[in-house]
Amino acid sequence: MRRDPGGGPDGGPVTAVERVAVRTRDLTKVFRGFRAVDSVNLEVREGNVHALVGPNGAGKTTLFNLLTGFVAPTSGTIEVFDEDVTGRPPEQIARRGVARSFQITSLFDSLTSREHVELALQGTGRQGFRFWRSEKLLGRDTARVEELLGQVGLMPLADTPVGALAYGQKRALELSLALALDPPVMLLDEPTAGMGTEDVDRTIELVRRIAAGRTVVLVDHNMRVVGSLADRVTVLQQGRILAEGDYDEVRNDERVITAYLGEAHHA
Ligand SMILES: Nc1ncnc2c1ncn2[C@@H]1O[C@H](COP(=O)(O)OP(=O)(O)OP(=O)(O)O)[C@@H](O)[C@H]1O
Ligand SMILES: [Mg+2]
Repeated sequence: MRRDPGGGPDGGPVTAVERVAVRTRDLTKVFRGFRAVDSVNLEVREGNVHALVGPNGAGKTTLFNLLTGFVAPTSGTIEVFDEDVTGRPPEQIARRGVARSFQITSLFDSLTSREHVELALQGTGRQGFRFWRSEKLLGRDTARVEELLGQVGLMPLADTPVGALAYGQKRALELSLALALDPPVMLLDEPTAGMGTEDVDRTIELVRRIAAGRTVVLVDHNMRVVGSLADRVTVLQQGRILAEGDYDEVRNDERVITAYLGEAHHA
């Protein structure tokens, strides 16, 4: 609910005005004549877990790539906390506070989880790149590294080479690397993909902790994950927004049910 900055109806104090963390206007990406993202007007409110769902090929990952600057839009605009970042390179958008989870393919088998998190912390800080300060901060960083590994349950395996970790543990490490950046806005693309029930449950809890005090945009095909976490859900189909609302609203929407009929195998 949007609140007036002037005060509540009874003149008492009001909670802070809700801000929009990420907004797109008519955002469009055309790949060789194919409209992968088509006139999308998305509004992600600060502090929400906002889920993006939709059948395979709906444009969810492309939208993430646009929001993080990895792909330039064909037309339309992107704002982060009301600042126009359209066309900015990924590192500038990251500095505005938008980070995505690392892909599993970016992990190094011979390095430990601890070493991965150390590298992530050294790479970027809130003030930007700070390689030159890393030695001075080493003591403080050790505590931070262990806090981050503890948050994802990896402390017992902190010094094990990543090549020896199970799939779910690698995905947990990816999340801790994204957390190391402490971004106000975190984009998670299918954090539970390929996981068994137990790892899915653990990841739901983890994302819930990650979401405390920040904005999360989440893509996931698992409706249990979406239903457990999302404050708001946007359904994409063929690059366009098909429906939007809270989880119960969209899952009872006839158009959404129809869009998913061909996808029954996918949960
Ligand atoms: N670099 C590219 N060049 C050409 N076409 C692309 C490119 N990236 C994505 N596409 C196409 O855009 C459409 C949307 O793809 P996208 O990966 O965004 O879908 P998605 O919703 O993330 O699907 P999934 O649920 O399978 O991950 C697909 O038809 C895809 O083939
Ligand atoms: Mg995708």
